[in-house]
Amino acid sequence: MSLPSTFTSEEAYFKAAVDFLRSYAWIYREANTACIKSLDAMPVQFKDYFLELTNKELNTFPFVHEHLDGCPTEVLRFREQVAHLTPSIQTAPTTACKALTNDQSNHSRRMAPKKQHEIQELAANIHEHCADRTQLIIDLGSGLGYLSEALFKLNDNYMILGLEADEKRVRSARIRSQQLLSPETHLSISYQQLFVTAAENCRSQIEQFATELARSKGLTTKTATTTELSTTLIGLHACADLSINAMLLFLSIPQVQCLHIMPCCYHKLALTERGTFQNFPLSRALRSAMSADEALSFNRPFMRLACQQTNSRWRCDALKHTQHGTQMWTRALASALCDANELVKVKRYNLAQNDSIQNNPLYEYVQQRFQLHSQQTGDPLDWRAVHEQRFAELTGRYSDGKGARLAEALCCLQATIQQLCENVVLYDRLCYLQELAAVQHLSVEVRYEKLFDEKLSPRCRVLIAEKL
Ligand SMILES: C[S@@+](CC[C@H](N)C(=O)[O-])C[C@H]1O[C@@H](n2cnc3c(N)ncnc32)[C@H](O)[C@@H]1O
Repeated sequence: MSLPSTFTSEEAYFKAAVDFLRSYAWIYREANTACIKSLDAMPVQFKDYFLELTNKELNTFPFVHEHLDGCPTEVLRFREQVAHLTPSIQTAPTTACKALTNDQSNHSRRMAPKKQHEIQELAANIHEHCADRTQLIIDLGSGLGYLSEALFKLNDNYMILGLEADEKRVRSARIRSQQLLSPETHLSISYQQLFVTAAENCRSQIEQFATELARSKGLTTKTATTTELSTTLIGLHACADLSINAMLLFLSIPQVQCLHIMPCCYHKLALTERGTFQNFPLSRALRSAMSADEALSFNRPFMRLACQQTNSRWRCDALKHTQHGTQMWTRALASALCDANELVKVKRYNLAQNDSIQNNPLYEYVQQRFQLHSQQTGDPLDWRAVHEQRFAELTGRYSDGKGARLAEALCCLQATIQQLCENVVLYDRLCYLQELAAVQHLSVEVRYEKLFDEKLSPRCRVLIAEKL
């Protein structure tokens, strides 16, 4: 998440990225359950092109640096612009240490491979940077404490404070650490329940927890505090606003020297009353590239796209693409039949029938597969003649399997711009952190490193900030 090499300033980059995204807002503006609106807005050149595409071409399309023959001008321009605005992918450095990869303990083996991979890579990366210059590590959104456990395997001298909003997780993390860590480390770790923000009272609370931990370890006297303890803030899958609050805490707590945070779930960012995000856009450069009204179209579906699967898992056989497109089209079709005060839910007993989904669903099939509900009461409702009329109109407009093919085409276009959307979101944060540091006359170095195998774990970037 950086400035693509073809740009020399963040102002120029954000302006070009916002101009591009404005022109192609139909790709990301709607939730995929409402994708018929997006298909209606898809330019005819795109529709014609995607309806004729072979599976090989469909698989290649999102990889904008790979050549694709036969693109009409509009489609070619789209691919060229995405290539220009998306930074090239750096290969992930492999950092996982033997001490972690060889760990065959029962609790490690019970962890899902994705989680195990993430924990090993991030712990090794933190350890590599912090081993000799950090006395206290604060894990923000510590969950069940997996990351601290892995860090203790690398260095049992660490002192770790895990902060977690969910009380149940705090309790489980405490139990796990008692059971799994050696007795010598019990005084070096503390899990506390706290909803972390960057507010003054939250900072004091963190300070207090840290002081109690340092005292129990005998590192500070009764009167001294932790102001001299060199501290690192860390977090794995710090969802929504937590990673932004982590950046603010990094800047505002003097003893914090380093930050290693992996953000995720951008779509869960808090909204303002106007419906924009409180924490997006943040940097001066992106804010000036986007008008206040325009910020509204960088909405939840945009953020969801920014944090969905990357294109690394896009390539698949024709049958899988057809099944996926058909599923998405059928779901959108059912939603589009509803009145404003109605919604549909997939009927449970039909969930197992994915394999038999129909490319050109009949009205009876939609009735069988989806239950209509009242939005106000949640009560089930019967399908009516008006729904059947809408069904006839929509399936007439997208006949002969076109709806399903174009739904998959839309997914293909989303996969093509996903990395660009994520880059805008994450690079904006990096620029913001640099701006705030400059205002406070703090000299900092900030960068993203790609840590994980993105096929296994799509949110694979860690924001690393260090005070110099
Ligand atoms: C996706 S989980 C990751 C848990 C853990 N870091 C891991 O990777 O196993 C995110 C965790 O952050 C916690 N969380 C989210 N926002 C928080 C906040 N503002 N303060 C404290 N915890 C928070 C959630 O309760 C959740 O346990």
